[in-house]
Amino acid sequence: MKAVVLGATKGMGRALARLMAARGDQLFLLGRDAADLERSARDLELRGAASGVGTAECDLERPEQFGPALDAAERALGGLDTVVVTAGVFATQERLEQEPELALTLLRVNFAHTVAFCEEARRRLLARGGGTLCAFSSVAGDRGRKPVVLYGASKAGLSRYLEGLDHRFRAQGLRTVCVKPGFVKTSMTEGLTPPPFAGEPEAVARVVLRAIDRGTPVVYAPGIWRWVMTVIRLLPRMVMRKVGF
Ligand SMILES: NC(=O)c1ccc[n+]([C@@H]2O[C@H](COP(=O)([O-])OP(=O)(O)OC[C@H]3O[C@@H](n4cnc5c(N)ncnc54)[C@H](OP(=O)(O)O)[C@@H]3O)[C@@H](O)[C@H]2O)c1
Repeated sequence: MKAVVLGATKGMGRALARLMAARGDQLFLLGRDAADLERSARDLELRGAASGVGTAECDLERPEQFGPALDAAERALGGLDTVVVTAGVFATQERLEQEPELALTLLRVNFAHTVAFCEEARRRLLARGGGTLCAFSSVAGDRGRKPVVLYGASKAGLSRYLEGLDHRFRAQGLRTVCVKPGFVKTSMTEGLTPPPFAGEPEAVARVVLRAIDRGTPVVYAPGIWRWVMTVIRLLPRMVMRKVGF
């Protein structure tokens, strides 16, 4: 596999890139901190990634970097068949209500700019006859909920975009994989009380890599969240308004 990963310096992205490296995939890393990227690239080489792992700066707050970063990846890998976007941001609903600028940044990074990045990736993959585009959304996008009104809205938009993309381009060879993690213990959730069924990044990475290999359009991880969200999606609006989650 010749894969680009945006967001491999931490959490689930790092766990996923390590699994890919261990089976000898060719990797290219994108992210916003050059030193972090270099450290991650050397770590992946030690774990078995094929040839050298290249890096390029790509900040989801700076759309002008998206095209050049993907071009650099394509050149270094000598082609491209997989693009993974795990990067994203989270803040509590209370904080986002108090800080409108932060709320705008979160909506841009998690939705508008992630979509813009995926569009750049989609064009490049289709030009090569197809490939796999995998992006991390969230169970928070499946239903409007009190603690994640804004974060959930950003992920709902991303999930719908990925669904539409899958319908529009699968016949042309583009496989879209929308990952919907439940609560996973990473730096993003540090300080939050883990709910039942909280997952570990390594276990999530195994589920996600299988989905990428198979081209599964939607994957819940850990898997139990598929059933949790089936119940939550069925709850009447009146019940959702009363409950706290
Ligand atoms: N953890 C959960 O419970 C959970 C649940 C549902 C969905 N998710 C989603 O799953 C994905 C991965 O989450 P995680 O828990 O693994 O998060 P994490 O440990 O906080 O890692 C987030 C990654 O995103 C990168 N990133 C953040 N802002 C960026 C920007 N502006 N430009 C480029 N890269 C940026 C970070 O890079 P730096 O090292 O530079 O900060 C880091 O590599 C996210 O999209 C998240 O929304 C997480």
